[in-house]
Amino acid sequence: MEVKILKGNIVESQVDTIICNLFEGVEIPGGATGAIDQALGGSIRDLVKLGDLTGKIGEAVVVYTRGAITAKRVIVAGLGRADEINQENIRKASAVAIKKARELNAVNVATIVHGAGIGGIIPALAAQATLEGILLALYKFDAPGVKSPEKPHKIEALTVVEYDGSKLDKIRTGVELAKAVSAGVYLARELVNLPANYATPTHMAEIAQDIAENHGMKITVGDREWATQNKMGAYLAVAKGAGEPPKFIILEHNGDRHDLDTIVLVGKGITFDTGGISIKPSEKMEEMKADMSGAAAVLGAMKAVGLLNLPLRVIGITPCTENMPDASAYRPADIITASNGITIEIISTDAEGRMILADALVYAKRFQPKAVVDLATLTGACVIALGKGVAAGLFSNDEKLQSKVVASGNNTHERVWPMPLWEDYKTNIKSNVADLKNSGGRFGGVGTSAIFLKEFTDYPWAHIDMAGMMLADKDDGYVPAGGVGYGVRLVVDLLLNW
Ligand code: BES
Ligand code: MN
Ligand code: ZN
Repeated sequence: MEVKILKGNIVESQVDTIICNLFEGVEIPGGATGAIDQALGGSIRDLVKLGDLTGKIGEAVVVYTRGAITAKRVIVAGLGRADEINQENIRKASAVAIKKARELNAVNVATIVHGAGIGGIIPALAAQATLEGILLALYKFDAPGVKSPEKPHKIEALTVVEYDGSKLDKIRTGVELAKAVSAGVYLARELVNLPANYATPTHMAEIAQDIAENHGMKITVGDREWATQNKMGAYLAVAKGAGEPPKFIILEHNGDRHDLDTIVLVGKGITFDTGGISIKPSEKMEEMKADMSGAAAVLGAMKAVGLLNLPLRVIGITPCTENMPDASAYRPADIITASNGITIEIISTDAEGRMILADALVYAKRFQPKAVVDLATLTGACVIALGKGVAAGLFSNDEKLQSKVVASGNNTHERVWPMPLWEDYKTNIKSNVADLKNSGGRFGGVGTSAIFLKEFTDYPWAHIDMAGMMLADKDDGYVPAGGVGYGVRLVVDLLLNW
């Protein structure tokens, strides 16, 4: 879909479908919607009077123009209450409207920017949210080799129309941001949705290679031998039973620009988590194809960082491997030495995420980061605590970084909720035979996982446990069922506001 920006009156758009909006409680629409209403002889007003159009979020009411204007139909998206307007409501309204347009086989669509008029949202943010809602809602996963019987109709062109010329540049900025971020989210969703026989560590490395080539980034793809040279015992322990070759991937944006602030992103890349010898029950095990969602978020974010050419030094580290039961797999009671010399007694081979992250977090130190943010589908306990699709758990050793991450979570609605990084949890992972155990058992399972990771960090650090956010059960607004692509927008927002 081609995206254009045009200064003008949306009433005159040479398209088949126009998208405008209505705030809840408004009886006589103003602005662009008001202009359309007038051109249509008051038919939008009539719908409000009838109660067929209320302006509630989630509503998309179609009005047929019957020759009064060029467009054949107008879709009025409910924007919710004007005093509750925010970027999330804009994304939602925008998503519902564009899905309605697609359902009606629209080919050429014109939309206004939602929320920038009476709503008072600054034009760049309003445009970004409008476009994110549209682009993210239109994502569809095509499973490899499967001929989908009902392919959704494709909208060919989208024109963003703005009457006020002074807002045009801001809108252009917002649209460009949305395009870059959405491309990153698409990539992350694709990687999460691809099953483990396609989204192998090798595939992850190929995708990273593409990003490096397209955006002039330095890339290192470490194989088993490389990890051995780097003494990454914890990562290698998990990779031991893997049939697919493990890949430890490092992407560097502005890698040699030591004058810029360095942010390191780390993503858990377990391409399939069987649990290993501590094997998982088979029920829902298929969801464990998504256990590389942290790595997918990091690769998606790196793609956006490249597209936007952000003026920061950003390093993306994604340790990738399967976690499989095998004759050569690591076992409970094994004692493993991580790359910083810390020894780990294995209690559960299913607590593999913290193992691979341990070596990645140690590796992050060499970049002398101002902040390290890791994203990981780390614990079922976090899903129990915060719910599915509600918020990720946030652990941090740095208050300033923590509040920045929380703010970006709220801006993007990829919410995070701060959890305590108390030393008390360490007693649960005290080992009699090694420095640490890799599992602290059932109680406080999310806290013990975080305090384990903390042992491998000595820089401002934020850990995002996104286990509850990796997959969506059903379509909802701009988030389709399946891979969510959670974390890309959050991280890019954090970098943009750094
Ligand atoms: N990948 C899982 C965590 C997970 C569970 C993600 C459900 C998404 C949905 C992780 O590797 C795991 O197995 N964690 C264990 C840790 C335990 C053995 C200490 C868990 O949460 O049960
Ligand atoms: Mn596991
Ligand atoms: Zn896992």
